Amino acid sequence: MIISVSIANVKNTDTKEIYSVTGNQLLGNLDLMSQKQVSEAIHNASDAQTQWAETELYKRAEILHNWADKLVENQQEIAQMVSEEVGKGLASAQKEVVRTADLIRYTAEEGVRYHGDMMKGDSFKGGSKDKIAMVEQEPLGVVLAISPFNYPVNLAASKIAPALITGNSVVFKPATQGALSGQLMIKALLETDLPEGVIQFVTGKGSEIGDFIVTHPKIDMVTFTGSTEVGQSISQQAKMIPVVLELGGKDPAIVLEDADLELAAKNIVGGAFSYSGQRCTAIKRVLVADSAADELAEKIKKEMDQLSVGSPADNATITPLINDEAADKVENLIIDAIEKGAELVVGNKREDNLIYPTLLDNVTSDMEIAWTEPFGPVLPIIRIQNEDDYVAISNESQYGLQASIFTEDVKKAMHIGSKLEVGSVQYNAKTERGPDHFPFIGAKNSGLGSQGIRRSIESMTRDKVFILNM
Ligand code: NAP
Ligand code: G3P
Repeated sequence: MIISVSIANVKNTDTKEIYSVTGNQLLGNLDLMSQKQVSEAIHNASDAQTQWAETELYKRAEILHNWADKLVENQQEIAQMVSEEVGKGLASAQKEVVRTADLIRYTAEEGVRYHGDMMKGDSFKGGSKDKIAMVEQEPLGVVLAISPFNYPVNLAASKIAPALITGNSVVFKPATQGALSGQLMIKALLETDLPEGVIQFVTGKGSEIGDFIVTHPKIDMVTFTGSTEVGQSISQQAKMIPVVLELGGKDPAIVLEDADLELAAKNIVGGAFSYSGQRCTAIKRVLVADSAADELAEKIKKEMDQLSVGSPADNATITPLINDEAADKVENLIIDAIEKGAELVVGNKREDNLIYPTLLDNVTSDMEIAWTEPFGPVLPIIRIQNEDDYVAISNESQYGLQASIFTEDVKKAMHIGSKLEVGSVQYNAKTERGPDHFPFIGAKNSGLGSQGIRRSIESMTRDKVFILNM
């Protein structure tokens, strides 16, 4: 199937051909919109917003439920596109679509119960019973949602659904490689009773239209998921509007001496290598007690030997990376580490964009792989001699998304967890985002603000206070 992505009123636009990650098969054409066209789309969203905010809440929720139903109905077609466009195993792509439908439904349900509150004046000294505040949550206006390539459906809907339920209109800019999947998702939304204009699909290269949309005067909020580099640029440019950012990570798996190493190895491999490590929440380094390191490395290798390598259509876990540059980056990190003395346990093999799962032991802090987010299937093991170094080395990273701690000692686990500069700590399990209603936070250069269904809803509204003076 070859599809063409455009908004109805755009004519004579430059286009870009989008090819599959494997097989180089033409999947469709993408409009590269001009600034004028983008601006028109933003104005359309702005014009539609007031009426949308006045639409009854139950009706907005119904539209979201309807959208979820249509995603489930079309899951095969959408998953097929996700799988081909971003190289994700077909079954995982299908899971992404169904997970997204669940997320949309939960958002609709949370949204209909999201009311303001009432405050009585006499609870503050000097206040009065005759003053009552009614605090209502207003939509912000036009929300700009920018998503990355790796979850082209889930990380788009997790922005669009909370924005819509709270009465915002949305300008959605997908990753260029991922836009065809995004378009199928939007097509499903447009098949509901959503009024015209409320969602605007804006396509083009981020490097060309990104700054323009972020700084457009009709944009009232930016919600972004992607690299730290782009996120930082957005936060510097957006003026006087809220910005929520989900950025890169370097999540450590901290394995203490007393850990169940079998459990740790299984979780580490699952966490590090699913979708070839192209997840913000992938485990990206192992910090293990020196005394347990040999045994853990052996168990990790054993688990890695089970990983399937190959094509997304065959549901392989390790599939070709999103593009040549991504594969070059991972390969260079591996070469740098080996040149500086890391021990190659397994891997370091490349076929085009396909990087075989690679495990490096005895990684030290002078190696780039100790600090850089590879976004690919390579895992460094750093051996820890001194207990203080679990926290010190974890926190030396610019990132602070999640961390896992493997130990049977709850007290120690809590003590270490409390000192880690991260958004979430997982005990005896891999790092991961879900379930999607949990708060999801990036500390330091991993993000700004909090996500997760309830938090996302809150981030897209502002308080408005009506004070009754009786
Ligand atoms: P990316 O290169 O930063 O791109 C993300 C999005 O930003 C794309 O839609 C891109 O459009 C757009 N963009 C590029 N330049 C822009 C600009 N100047 N202004 C506005 N938008 C711009 O990231 P990616 O390669 O797609 O995704 C991988 C990164 O995302 C990793 O670092 C990963 O850790 C992070 N990530 C984080 C989370 C999280 O929840 N913390 C989740 C997933 C991914 P184009 O595609 O057109 O360039
Ligand atoms: O990188 C995308 C992020 O949202 C991760 O989700 O479920 O793979 O941990 P998950």
